[in-house]
Amino acid sequence: MRNSYDIAVIPGDGTGPEVVAEGVKVLQAAAAVYGVDFKLTYYGFGGEHYRKTGETLPDAAVEELRAFDAIYLGAIGHPDVEPGILERGIVLKARFALDQYINLRPVKLLPGVESPLRDKTPADIDYVVVRENSEGFYAGSGGCFKADTPDEIALQTSINTRKGVERCLRYAFALAANRRRKVTLAGKTNVLTYAFGLWNKAFAEIGEGEFPDVERDYGHVDAVCMWMVKNPEWFDVIVTENMFGDIISDLGAITQGGLGIAAGGNINPQGVSMFESIGGSAPKYTGRNEINPLASICAAGMMAAHIGRADMAKAIERAVACTTPRLKSLSAGRMGCSTTQVGDLVVAALREK
Ligand code: IPM
Ligand code: MN
Repeated sequence: MRNSYDIAVIPGDGTGPEVVAEGVKVLQAAAAVYGVDFKLTYYGFGGEHYRKTGETLPDAAVEELRAFDAIYLGAIGHPDVEPGILERGIVLKARFALDQYINLRPVKLLPGVESPLRDKTPADIDYVVVRENSEGFYAGSGGCFKADTPDEIALQTSINTRKGVERCLRYAFALAANRRRKVTLAGKTNVLTYAFGLWNKAFAEIGEGEFPDVERDYGHVDAVCMWMVKNPEWFDVIVTENMFGDIISDLGAITQGGLGIAAGGNINPQGVSMFESIGGSAPKYTGRNEINPLASICAAGMMAAHIGRADMAKAIERAVACTTPRLKSLSAGRMGCSTTQVGDLVVAALREK
């Protein structure tokens, strides 16, 4: 096992730097326990940098990022920058340019966390959303015709390629093979017959041909939303296209306690992957030491697992699970302790093991 890793850190905007600081604190504490050396290289991209320089994520930086073992991202979003510029220019640019074709979003209710789902316990909420992260509506295919006239037409097309769908499905099946061996495809075969006709065909072929031991299940995405609320225990791995995955993973996040805890990875299994908390930059909490850093800490744990340090990842997960019962709430400002104190609690739990 290697014991030295190069990590690019993009703290970003708003509360991003505060939560990233706690994630780094936990990562370095775990590194000390396991005799690992993390070399961190910080990048200042984000809203402030854009306002000063007009630059989002330049091509040269993307090339540099390829050389790292992983990227650790805080939050991107600035109240004084028009919506879309930073999202497309930084987050989506990294995902697309680095071909991070999987967006992996675990939905897990941790001990002591109150779920808005009545009567559901950690035994009921433990699944993973595998969101296709490189195609669909996000591919940006389309355009406007006769813009700003009464005849304006907007076209936005969802792109689903056989290759893109297959690699996503294979990832989902392989993941399920190491879990409870069930994959649910969330689609819309009753309406979006072309797109989900392709998904459904590939799902059956790959499932039957390559993963015969993994159970296959299909649900229309609207029905899947209901079941995620009523019967989350039915799910092990949910796989779906980009936009549906964006929507259902926020639903999943709230069932596990919200954006204070929800983390995700943008994964290129053959390249460099990027780990982030799902929440935004929460500008109104900036600098108040009140934001919950657990999502970012969990993202650091996912990053450790991804670079081959399952030992560290498990230790971080365990330490987070020891910390959640000690917080009053997962919401910013209502945790009963500060951002830095939450980081300290996780570090203390980590060292006890
Ligand atoms: C997410 C976010 C992004 C998305 C935005 C910021 C582009 O909502 O990571 O889910 O839509 O994918
Ligand atoms: Mn989203």
